[in-house]
Amino acid sequence: MHNETKLIRTQIERSQYNEHSNPIFMTSSYVFDSAEDMASKFSGEIPANIYSRYSNPNVAELIQKVAQLEETESGWATATGMSAIYTTFMALLSSGDHIVSSRSVFGSTHQLFTKIFPKFNITTSYAEILDIDSWEKEITENTKILYLETPSNPGIDLADLEKISILAKKYNLLVAVDNCFSTPYLQIPKRFGADIIIHSATKHIDGQGRTLGGLILSSNEIIAKVEEYARHSGPAISPFNAWILSKSLETLHVRIEKHSENALKLAQKLEQNPNVELVKYPFLESFPQYELAKKQMKAGGGIVTFYIKGGLEEGKKFINSIKMCSVSANLGDTRTIVTHPASTTHAKLTPEERNSVGITDNLIRVSVGLEHEEDIINDIENALLK
Ligand SMILES: Cc1ncc(COP(=O)(O)O)c(C=O)c1O
Repeated sequence: MHNETKLIRTQIERSQYNEHSNPIFMTSSYVFDSAEDMASKFSGEIPANIYSRYSNPNVAELIQKVAQLEETESGWATATGMSAIYTTFMALLSSGDHIVSSRSVFGSTHQLFTKIFPKFNITTSYAEILDIDSWEKEITENTKILYLETPSNPGIDLADLEKISILAKKYNLLVAVDNCFSTPYLQIPKRFGADIIIHSATKHIDGQGRTLGGLILSSNEIIAKVEEYARHSGPAISPFNAWILSKSLETLHVRIEKHSENALKLAQKLEQNPNVELVKYPFLESFPQYELAKKQMKAGGGIVTFYIKGGLEEGKKFINSIKMCSVSANLGDTRTIVTHPASTTHAKLTPEERNSVGITDNLIRVSVGLEHEEDIINDIENALLK
């Protein structure tokens, strides 16, 4: 079966009512036939749902679908993308361990690395996403995980998944990839050697700006460690949210194709705009890593980043002149969203930290939606004229 079909046809067992669309199992616990039945299920001797902090039918369906797409043995779902990232590190690392991460990571991930993990004596060094040698230089005897996002948020730089995975194998390290921008429809990091794939399902997996969610996909061995940590620390996703996300996956392929089509058209238009200094989009022929993009990704995805001619004032003027698109910090919605990362998602970074990953005051991130492409382009071009 093709992935598109699997996403539509993967379904938990029907109930006695023969429903077509799946019911939502809003239950915190499950019942047992006897004391013996309960004991054998609690001990794990008989696999079963016992409590929704551990497992739930809707959550199981969501995990099964995304694990199929990411081509991993197993997975775990969490309440948010950040809890997926946090849970991964907490489950796999101990005090004294070290992470080497791409410098170009989401603002809250940066906060974990610089403010929260050091409290547990877990340290992080940053490597430059584009420079493979800088990764090797940061590896120490305590390093356990190499971490990255590709394309990066919001700089739209690509990490070379194959080269980073080869480096990791050389030092017996794990590679964890936040695959949120690409979705497994466009990019399957495991094919290039990655060990752990993480998603903020809040973005393109939901795709309609309704709910938060996170996913961790990996081998049975790694997910067993994640499960042990998550069962007791409790970052569980609500069955209702898991149901929404599982339903959303039925349309992932058509949505991502259209997001990518609209985004490419917008990027091509912006490249010709006299008020734009630079446009970054993986499937633009002018993109410096165009060949790598074509190797790793099926299409460019829904996010376009551009630099307005000028600085902070021009950036703010652009945002204030937008009429139809939403001014918001989310991404991966049917609605086009424009964001000014320097003053919002990455405001917690120092100006030096922002500049080092290309988040200048004139950078605008567009999460290109599913409206008619002409309406998106007109709104953005008109705002650039103001
Ligand atoms: C690349 C990336 N990873 C992780 C997250 C965090 O996800 P969530 O908001 O679901 O916690 C975000 C949120 O914007 C993101 O853009």
